[in-house]
Amino acid sequence: MKILFFGDIFGRPGREALLHIIPEWKASLKPDIIIANGENVSHGAGLSESSVNEIFQAGVQIITGGNHSLEGSNAGSLLNDEHLPIVRPENMPEGSPGRGFVYFSFSSGELRQSHDNSDSELLVINLIGQTHMRFHYDSPFSAFERILKDAEIKKPKVILVDWHADASSEKIAFGWFADGRVTAVIGTHTHTPTADERILPKGTAFISDVGMVGPHFSVIGQEIENNIKRVLLQAPRKVDVASAPPYEINAVLLDIDEISWKATKIERQRKIIF
Ligand SMILES: [Fe+2]
Ligand SMILES: [Fe+2]
Repeated sequence: MKILFFGDIFGRPGREALLHIIPEWKASLKPDIIIANGENVSHGAGLSESSVNEIFQAGVQIITGGNHSLEGSNAGSLLNDEHLPIVRPENMPEGSPGRGFVYFSFSSGELRQSHDNSDSELLVINLIGQTHMRFHYDSPFSAFERILKDAEIKKPKVILVDWHADASSEKIAFGWFADGRVTAVIGTHTHTPTADERILPKGTAFISDVGMVGPHFSVIGQEIENNIKRVLLQAPRKVDVASAPPYEINAVLLDIDEISWKATKIERQRKIIF
């Protein structure tokens, strides 16, 4: 079984790049399931109904999130709509809209949210880190333990974590903490891909960060000039989504053995379109 996971989809350029690449990569990589981090899908920050619909129509089947998940015009209602396969980090404060983990079934050949214990085959978990974040989140480690207790009852075959964090030290430490307990820990948030993809000793596929899908000539998706001024003058500046093309597309392809349900391969995918 193959899962194709796209990193943070950044604004309109990210959506355009996704629309362009999905048919091509569906044909060449033959993924069974497509997941994307959508925390930046609407104008670089948050969720909107139209942007979410656009990436679902492009072929994304599950949307994960991060620190920007609660922003955007309809974020609350989109996250609270239990028919939509959208998750946001579980360790956000209690009372935040939405869900931090969702079970799916896939063996019918169609990916569906599962509503009883018997058909829970895929568990998608979203967690957020505590280092270099603007807000203070609960422990992702404790949230992870709580979710895995629930998974002991539902027994999904595949467990995938979108691990949305900034510091590579925190990200890698969590990877080791989760090794052997989940199928994959996929890092998001920095918008810059790391080259440390690997299968950890107890069988968990790991990468610190997938990187984004967005404008290539940018500062993590945003326009360059005002970002230079911001760091040069150490003063706040309004920064907009950078223009594209060129686009950059970053994803990972997971290969999962259908007997052991362990990841056998994690491969980085990257394409720049001029
Ligand atoms: Fe992001
Ligand atoms: Fe983020």
